[in-house]
Amino acid sequence: MTNVTDQDHVLIFDTTLRDGEQSPGATMTHNEKLEIAELLDEMGVDIIEAGFPIASEGDFKAVTEIAERSKNSRICGLARANIADIDRCWEAVKHAGKNRIHTFIGTSPLHRAIPNLTMDEMANKIHETVSHARNLCENVQWSPMDATRTEWDYLCRVIEIAIKAGATTINIPDTVGYTAPAESADLIKCLIETVPGADEVIFATHCHNDLGMATANSLAAVAGGARQIECTINGLGERAGNTALEEVVMALRTRNDIMPWHTGIDTTKIMHISRRVATVAGFPVQFNKAIVGKNAFAHESGIHQDGMLKNRENFEIMRPEDIGLSGTSLPLGKHSGRAALRDKLETLGYEVGDNQLRDIFVRFKDLADRKKEVFDDDLIALMSLDDDDDRLQLVSMKVTCGTGGQAESTVELEFDGKDVIATEHGDGPVDATFRAIRAIYPNKAHLQLYQVHAVTEGTDAQATVSVRLEEDGMIATGQSANTDTVVASAKAYIHALNRLIMRREKAGPGADTREISYKDLT
Ligand code: KIV
Ligand code: ZN
Repeated sequence: MTNVTDQDHVLIFDTTLRDGEQSPGATMTHNEKLEIAELLDEMGVDIIEAGFPIASEGDFKAVTEIAERSKNSRICGLARANIADIDRCWEAVKHAGKNRIHTFIGTSPLHRAIPNLTMDEMANKIHETVSHARNLCENVQWSPMDATRTEWDYLCRVIEIAIKAGATTINIPDTVGYTAPAESADLIKCLIETVPGADEVIFATHCHNDLGMATANSLAAVAGGARQIECTINGLGERAGNTALEEVVMALRTRNDIMPWHTGIDTTKIMHISRRVATVAGFPVQFNKAIVGKNAFAHESGIHQDGMLKNRENFEIMRPEDIGLSGTSLPLGKHSGRAALRDKLETLGYEVGDNQLRDIFVRFKDLADRKKEVFDDDLIALMSLDDDDDRLQLVSMKVTCGTGGQAESTVELEFDGKDVIATEHGDGPVDATFRAIRAIYPNKAHLQLYQVHAVTEGTDAQATVSVRLEEDGMIATGQSANTDTVVASAKAYIHALNRLIMRREKAGPGADTREISYKDLT
């Protein structure tokens, strides 16, 4: 077992901004990435994988700025096994007080076939690229991608090479979510016992959730000797996602009696960052998701409520406040003032400056006029509303519905500062409204997903609407909340269109805008 770190301590490596953001449709704007990085840093994440600097100019700028602004976390960038990638990565991460280059190559038989390298050729490439990275940066992570489907003897051989070339962390990715807990533990244990020099480095685990075992596999790897868990907020990531940060951290905390390892995470910050990631990535958290799902701490059945009233430990193994969920809190109303609003926002994890508070207060008053009680969830939805810099903005809309399902919608949008109005008919109010928006801003985006959730209870509840659009392989999601479901739908659709416009502009004319995956780039 490695002796290079406190044996009780498990490092948390968050890859929400790299592996998470690669998930089709989860693209975040530059400012959103900076915000999430700041929250990760504040919550005590040891290493933030901020992006893949060579993948795009946007990624490079984001990693650079995150590195410049970092306070306590180590900032890491991803690089394939070539000199250009590694140099670009260093250019971005070198600005951080603590930095890391993470370089990888696929080592399984299937992945070796992609660059068509023999085992020996690949071994040489690993030596060359890891040495190059180590000459630039004193902290280098190396990953044999698809490690769990790589022959164990070859894995031992290439890990030894990477260690000799200067890697300081060896990450073992379960790239396709194929392993199971017992195997995950055995593999790490075997590598640590077999590979010469293994006690000089930290072993990390990086699991995907294709079989729903990412959390279990990560914890088993720790039992086997790994001392770094790679994870994302809400388990965001391609396909079934990555290991969820909140799950491994809370599991280690709650069952410390049988898993005697700790992390440096301030768990009271979990709920806020979970909501922000869900909003900016446009991936709502499923209601029954462990730790951060809306129902995770709700006890609705009569038996459970009775038991809870007698003793909360009957049905609760964690306290809501441990993850930053405030207990029963009084709703605000239309007579609540600015100080009460600021106070409430702070308890929900939002720090707002005076100007921002002024804007939010106007929106809050508008909502309080329509809704008697403004609950925490209403405020959270209010804080996620659209950006004033968007090129398309909703000015007004009027919808008339007939009993036969036909509806008419008149929509007024501001497009690049100019007001444009269109009226369209459709099969129901949402269809008519989307048609009117398309009449103003013609596009061939295909509506892949349209989802409505009530934020709170009652007929005056706000509805949160999520929309996912696809155009030429590029995916954009939009979200909005309003007490009127049709208005929320229009705003969510416009939000998604603004994101598509932004991505198109970033890609430049004639660019191939399909989702970039590091797997395409290997
Ligand atoms: O899943 C994976 O293999 C990865 C590597 C780049 C570490 O994300
Ligand atoms: Zn991954």
